[in-house]
Amino acid sequence: MSLKQGEFVGSLDCGTTSVRFIIFNEFAEIVAEHQLEFPQYYPNPGWHDHDADEIWQVSVECIDKACQKLEQAGWAKSSVKVIGITNQRETTVAWSRKTGKPLCKAIVWTDSRTKNVVVHYENILAHTGIEVEPGVFHKADEGVEALVDITGLKLSTYFSAIKLRWMIDNYDNVKAAHDADDLMFGTVESWVVYKMTGATDGGLHIGEVTNASRTLLMNIKTLEWDPRLLKFFGFRETILPKIVSSSEVYGKIVGGTLDGVPIAGLVGDQQGALVGNKCLLQGEAKCTYGTGAFLLFCTGADIVKSRHGLLSTVAYQPGSGAKPIYALEGSIGVAGSAIQWLRDSMGFIKDATEVNKLAESVPNTGGVYFVTAFSGLLAPYWDPGATGILIGISAYTTPAHIARATIEANAYQTRAILESMKLDSSVDLKHLKVDGGMTNGDICMEILADIGGFNVVRPVMRESTALGSALLAGSAIKLFGWDLTKPETLEKVNTKGSRTFQPKIAVKDRAAGWQRWQNAVERSKGWEE
Ligand code: G3P
Repeated sequence: MSLKQGEFVGSLDCGTTSVRFIIFNEFAEIVAEHQLEFPQYYPNPGWHDHDADEIWQVSVECIDKACQKLEQAGWAKSSVKVIGITNQRETTVAWSRKTGKPLCKAIVWTDSRTKNVVVHYENILAHTGIEVEPGVFHKADEGVEALVDITGLKLSTYFSAIKLRWMIDNYDNVKAAHDADDLMFGTVESWVVYKMTGATDGGLHIGEVTNASRTLLMNIKTLEWDPRLLKFFGFRETILPKIVSSSEVYGKIVGGTLDGVPIAGLVGDQQGALVGNKCLLQGEAKCTYGTGAFLLFCTGADIVKSRHGLLSTVAYQPGSGAKPIYALEGSIGVAGSAIQWLRDSMGFIKDATEVNKLAESVPNTGGVYFVTAFSGLLAPYWDPGATGILIGISAYTTPAHIARATIEANAYQTRAILESMKLDSSVDLKHLKVDGGMTNGDICMEILADIGGFNVVRPVMRESTALGSALLAGSAIKLFGWDLTKPETLEKVNTKGSRTFQPKIAVKDRAAGWQRWQNAVERSKGWEE
């Protein structure tokens, strides 16, 4: 059979629990795709590891299988003109310059083993401070503010610098590699590009700006590694990748099914979903419900500093040297992973999608609230000592009530973040665009609208994360005329429409539930010293 020649863009989405490769046409229709889960390692309570080699292996397999499906659909694989990569952020990979092999397991963004490292740096900030100019130290509250001003972030187990410090301090081979200048650090996009462009035979060592903005090492204004932070955390600069924009030709794939195809889009998955939802302008927001849930509010060219527990982050940089677009972010650590917990640890359901039916089988939670703080609480509470708490249980409680309370937990945390965004940006969102696995369930959307008190807009095509990196890659080579700096060039992209869920419960019931939730959160805080 002779294969047709077309023009498509590929997107490799390296998420927390699975990798997928999706091939899109110019309308953002999916022409072929393949997805594979990879192993999760939890060697101790609070620990969460990945094997970077396994991430690479499933990436290769997903690309191969998706390209085979493309050919089965009658298209030559040479129709894939460019690829983008999007990834779980913050997850920290350390490998050897000499061998190109990982030096240890990657520490995943959810991991909370590094609580003591955070306390150590909190103490340094409190007593010695951070050197902001030669000989000038900002300490205590001023020091905390200085860190937020430089990075947009907080000291937290969530970010890469803390994880990397732990690796150097706890794995002898990583320390030796750091001392001998053999250590290469990167987040997942950096590792995958290194492997894809030739690894030890000269693979690129680059890191993309939205990912770099999650390390606690990048200056959010200059978009460069900040020497003050390197000194504060004690890292040599040579271990870091070169920071690149989200949309430019970085290099070509070396070997494999797509040998020679340019890589031209890189982006952290949550920023990818912002772009994929076409939230490119100030005031637009989306929330993605994956392993965790991440609400990003585009603030345009302005860096908005949060006073209410949110982070400032780079949303995307549409080309080398281009002005970056920023966002305010509210990160929820546990969303879909709580559904997995209901399935794998509690045995309440056999398949994640069954949670919807189970939750629907009861009209309410019967008074149960579930604060899903499995590894502390992220935004807007930021309490590493919080633990999960199920409260309101009685002899009446069934798995259905707990399933419903799990879905409600996502909605309450989303509401908490939106309350903070309202205070930080003075914008009261009337609707929220959503995507991610959990949004497939109508019941989740109805509960979100009811608890949030806003309209929830769910697009028909919900692969927004992968689409974001595809748009960035296509835009870099002006494929299909796409140009992210001109949103009108994306008008024909993803026009399949959306469904809106409106709030239905009485205002007083919403207010009462919100009070109870806040009370439950207070009880979950500080449980672990
Ligand atoms: O910050 C972590 C985030 O990037 C992970 O996303 O979709 O794998 O939950 P996800």
